Amino acid sequence: MIPDTDPNSIVYLNGEYQRLADAKISVLDRGFIFGDGIYDVVPVYAGKPFRMAAHLARLQRNLKILRLETGFTTADWEALVTDMIKRSGLSNCVVYIQVSRGVAKRDHAFPLGVKPTIFCMVNPFTRPTAQQRDQGLSAVSATDIRWQRCDIKSTSLLANILARQQAVDSGVDEVIQFRDGLLTEGSACNIWMVKDGELLAPPLDEHILEGIRYRLLEELAVQQDIPFVARPIAQHEVDTADELMLTSATKEVLPIVIYNGQPVGGTGRPGPIYRRLQAAYDKLVEL
Ligand code: PDD
Repeated sequence: MIPDTDPNSIVYLNGEYQRLADAKISVLDRGFIFGDGIYDVVPVYAGKPFRMAAHLARLQRNLKILRLETGFTTADWEALVTDMIKRSGLSNCVVYIQVSRGVAKRDHAFPLGVKPTIFCMVNPFTRPTAQQRDQGLSAVSATDIRWQRCDIKSTSLLANILARQQAVDSGVDEVIQFRDGLLTEGSACNIWMVKDGELLAPPLDEHILEGIRYRLLEELAVQQDIPFVARPIAQHEVDTADELMLTSATKEVLPIVIYNGQPVGGTGRPGPIYRRLQAAYDKLVEL
């Protein structure tokens, strides 16, 4: 048994519902051999998937980019997610959808006539703790060594894994990555900066993932009358940010209060813009 996973939890694999412990895929699966696949992560609050339409739209977009033909319509994905939540019996949980190109003789080119492998699991959702929200996280800067299509939510996550491990090795919570001197994102989250009352984020391009919370925070900023600007952000600007924060499906919105060993904004405390955005986020998920 893999630690922290329930072998009796029900997973979906290629049309069948099975116990996690019984679900098996071929060693020739291209997800294993090449990391040839994509995934998405849908958070669920009180049994209700949050922003599911946006997550599924991103999933479908990624499948299209990789030319993975699953035969699933958006309604089919929706039905799968809803069904999996019900079967899990969990209230707050996280649904993982993983799709690989399938099983084929080893050859880099797309195989013909192969069915994608479709896997879905539901894990309990451990929401950020009060301590993480009130005391904030620490981060260090890192060089973004990833490829040029970080907009694809690929299961080829080696560079993200190395980045996350760099955070662990440095004794901090996250890395803030830079490519050619410009802010990109964290190892598995989007990064935000506040300067002079403005909320800033890097523009959506091929160097970052379009987080579902990227659009969401933009919406919340507009609602809260917080000016939002998406523009290239230089590394030296991050050094003197008033506030830093991160967003992801599982981390929600969290403040970064120590950056490269220095207190962010001179205080090392979560800032006022973070507090407003976090309160607005909470309100939405608890509706
Ligand atoms: N990660 N950027 C990267 C590289 C990510 O992996 C993620 C999400 C995000 C934020 O996207 P969203 O708001 O849609 O969660 C940005 C997920 C949670 C993961 O890999 O587990």
